[in-house]
Amino acid sequence: MATCGLAAGAAETKKAFEEALADRGIEARIVPVGCLGHCYAEPLVVVHTPEYPPLCYYNVSAGRARVLVKAFLEEGDPLQEFLYGAKEINDLFPTVDDFPRFSLEKKVVMEKCGQIDPNDIYQYIRTGGYAALAKALASDPEAVIGQVTEAGLRGRGGAGFPTGKKWQLARKSPEKERYVICNADEGDPGAYMDRTILESNPHQLIEGLIICAYAVGAQEAIIYIRAEYPLAVKVVRNAIRQAREAGLAGKDILGSKYDVEVSVFEGSGAFVCGEETALIQSIQGLRGMPQVRPPYPVEKGLWGKPTEVNNVKTLSTVPLIINRGSEWFKGIGTSSSTGTAVFSVVGDVVHPGLVEIPMGTTLRSLIFDVCGGIPDKKAFKAVQIGGPSGGCLPSHFLDTPVDFDSLTLAGAMMGSGGMVVMNEDSCMVDVARYFIDFTQKESCGKCTFCRIGTLHLLNILDRITKGEGIEEDLDTLNILSEEIKEGSLCGLGKTAPNPVLTSLRYFREEYEAHVREKRCPAKVCRALTAFYIDLDRCARGCDACVGCCPVEAIFTTPDRKKGVDQEKCVKCGECMVACPPEYDAVRKVSPPELAPIVERARERAPDGNR
Ligand SMILES: Cc1cc2nc3c(=O)[nH]c(=O)nc-3n(C[C@H](O)[C@H](O)[C@H](O)COP(=O)(O)O)c2cc1C
Ligand code: SF4
Ligand code: SF4
Repeated sequence: MATCGLAAGAAETKKAFEEALADRGIEARIVPVGCLGHCYAEPLVVVHTPEYPPLCYYNVSAGRARVLVKAFLEEGDPLQEFLYGAKEINDLFPTVDDFPRFSLEKKVVMEKCGQIDPNDIYQYIRTGGYAALAKALASDPEAVIGQVTEAGLRGRGGAGFPTGKKWQLARKSPEKERYVICNADEGDPGAYMDRTILESNPHQLIEGLIICAYAVGAQEAIIYIRAEYPLAVKVVRNAIRQAREAGLAGKDILGSKYDVEVSVFEGSGAFVCGEETALIQSIQGLRGMPQVRPPYPVEKGLWGKPTEVNNVKTLSTVPLIINRGSEWFKGIGTSSSTGTAVFSVVGDVVHPGLVEIPMGTTLRSLIFDVCGGIPDKKAFKAVQIGGPSGGCLPSHFLDTPVDFDSLTLAGAMMGSGGMVVMNEDSCMVDVARYFIDFTQKESCGKCTFCRIGTLHLLNILDRITKGEGIEEDLDTLNILSEEIKEGSLCGLGKTAPNPVLTSLRYFREEYEAHVREKRCPAKVCRALTAFYIDLDRCARGCDACVGCCPVEAIFTTPDRKKGVDQEKCVKCGECMVACPPEYDAVRKVSPPELAPIVERARERAPDGNR
C-alpha cells in the first residue's frame, strides 16, 4: 500500500477485511499492492474469486470492506453498486478499460504499479522482472547504451537530455572509478510520481539502475531519496536487500562477474538538492549548493569521479526498452519525445491522481478525458506544468501536445511531472505569488539575483495582492524576472520567474485589475474582497452564520436579518459555507467597496427597551 492509499484509510480497510474474514471463517489471501494512480478512488480493492473475473471496487472504507465480505464472499452478491469495473473482459460487468481514465492511459513505467506486492521480489520476477538485467549482462555495455540511444529515451527529471548520450559520456571517461545515482529527491510541491513508483514497484527501478551501472561501468549505485518519504525509503531498502539475497545486486550478479553495490542515501528535503550538482554535494556531506557546470557530473561528479545521474522514471523505463526493444519504445509518443509521460495531476479535476500517457497526448485530452474535466461545472482557467518553475498556460493552449519541445515552446516545461489544474476561481497573481514564495524560500542563496531578486518579486506580488501595487510594478516584474533568469547559476533561479512571466503574458488583465481598480477578478485576494449578506435572501432568525463567525463580526439588522461588520471581518468565508443552500444569502465581492453599508439594530437598553 502506497502513501496515497494509506492516507485514504487503506490500513483500516485491510484490518477490516482481515477481521471480517476471520469472523466468518472465510479463507482468503490479502495482498497489499502499490498504487494504480487513481487517488480519487482510494482505497481501491480487487477481489479475485473462482466465480467472477477480478472485480475492482473503489473508495472501500472499513465499513464497505465488512459489507463486501458478508455480501460477496459469504452470500455471493458482487455488489455492483460499489463496483468500479472488472479487470478482464467478460459478459457480466463493464471492465475498467471502458473508463477513459484507463483506456487512454499507456502504462509503461507504471505497468506493474498497483498490480504486485512491492515487498515481494518474486512477484516482480514472476511477471518478467529482472529478465532485462540478465539480457543486458549477457551483452556488451556499448550495445546496451546503443539500445537506449536508439529508443530516443530522454531524461524524465526535467531537462529531457538524451539518456543514451549521457551514458556514453560517462562510459568514455578515462577514470575507472564511476558512480550512478538515481535522483529521487522530488521536491516540487504537489508532485508525487517518483514516490509512488518507489513505493509501488521498487524492483523495476533497481533493475534499471543496475543496467545503467553496468552500461557506464560503475561500481557503486546510490538511490537519493528525500527523508520525508519514509515509506519509499523503507520499501526501497527492503527491495535492495532482497535483490542482493537473490544474487541480482552486489557481487557477481547472475554469475556475470559484474559487481555493483546499491544503497539508499536519505536527503534532507531541500528542493535545490534535486539539482544534480547540489545532490552530489549533499551526498559528500557538504551544503547542498549547485556547482558551476562544466565540468558535468558525467566528467567529474561524486568524489570527483564520473557520475551518471538519472531520474526515477528514466531508470524505470530502461528494463522495458531492453526487454521489448527500441522500436517498440519508439512506437509510443512522438518522434522527438518517445515513450510516455507520467504526471501527478492535482487541483481542480474530477479524477486527480497519477496518469501515464503517451507523449503527444494533448493537454485537453489529459485534463478533460483522462482526468474527467473540471468539477462543479466550473470553467477551466489555467494549467501549471513543470513544478514550481513551470509556466501557467491558459485555455488557448489546451490543444498543445504534451512533449518536451511543445511545452517549452508554449512557455511551460515538462519538468519532472507535476501538473496543477486551476478553475475560474483561481487568481493568477496569487498563484504566481505562491510559487515565487516557494522558490524564494528554497533558493540556496549562492547567486545574488536568485537570492535577492526572487525576494523583490515576492514583495511586489505581495503588494499587488494587497491592493498596494503601482503601474510600474508590471514592467518591474518583467524586467526583474528576465534578469533573475540571466544572472542565476542553476535551474532553480533560471526558471523561478516562469510563473510570473507566463501569468503576466497570458493573464495581464488580472494584474491590471489588481493594480488599477484594486479589484481581484477571481475574488481570492483577501485585501481586495469583502463578504456581505444579501438582505433579500437572508432568512430572519436563521443565525447559522452567526454561530460560525470566529470574530463575532455578524450583527442583527433592525428587521432582524444579518449584516457583516467590515471592520471586524477577517474574510475567512465560514459564513458563506454555513448559510443554508435554500437561502444562499452570503455574497463575496471585489473591490470591497461593493459591499453595501447595512444598518444595525439599536442595542437594547439595560431595562430591555429599545
Ligand atoms: C532546482 C532543481 C531541482 C531538481 N529536482 C529534481 C528532482 O527532484 N528529480 C530529478 O530527477 N531531477 C531534478 N532536477 C534535474 C536534475 O538536475 C537532473 O537534470 C536530473 O536528475 C537528470 O536525470 P534525467 O537525465 O533522468 O532527467 C532538478 C533540477 C533543478 C534545477
Ligand atoms: S540560482 Fe539560486 S538556487 Fe541556484 S545556485 Fe544560484 S542561488 Fe542557488
Ligand atoms: S467571512 Fe468569516 S469573519 Fe467575515 S463575517 Fe463571515 S464568518 Fe465572520
